[in-house]
Amino acid sequence: MLKKVIQDALNEQVKIEAQSSQVYLAMASWAEIQPGIDNITSFFYRHSDEERMHMLKLIKFINERGGFAMIPALEQPQPTFPSIKHAFKELLKHEEYVSESINKVVDISLAEKDYATYNFMQWYVSEQIEEESLARTLNDKLELIGEDKSGLYLFDKDILMVNVTTAEGK
Ligand code: FEO
Repeated sequence: MLKKVIQDALNEQVKIEAQSSQVYLAMASWAEIQPGIDNITSFFYRHSDEERMHMLKLIKFINERGGFAMIPALEQPQPTFPSIKHAFKELLKHEEYVSESINKVVDISLAEKDYATYNFMQWYVSEQIEEESLARTLNDKLELIGEDKSGLYLFDKDILMVNVTTAEGK
């Protein structure tokens, strides 16, 4: 049986993963109506799907351990962005926030000596290292490109490889 304090922490993480999925879905929809960035659009859609998968994994874990996963209400995500660069900056900021919240769940599970939850959360810790690192790399590339349109064209081609690699890794 899950302790209430653990269930609450995990349910908070369910909300954060669900909100992340919405945030990236909003980025995908906005990117889709910008000309010539089809692969960036796919990247955001894929990222949104991954966050939903992160949420589902938590829901299953909570319920399998005798708790109850509460499906939360979500906030309106930012619908539009001044530029692609801004969207990717927001993505990095958001992933840093998710990492912090995951660390909090890990802290609580250790404090409560819930080693099953601690163990389960290690998957999220590793996932966040990868996601933050990818978001930083993409932001660095966009920084180099600056306002160069042909650079953005190449960035969009480049991100296709990220989409393919991520798809193979799942
Ligand atoms: Fe599931 Fe990218 O946080």
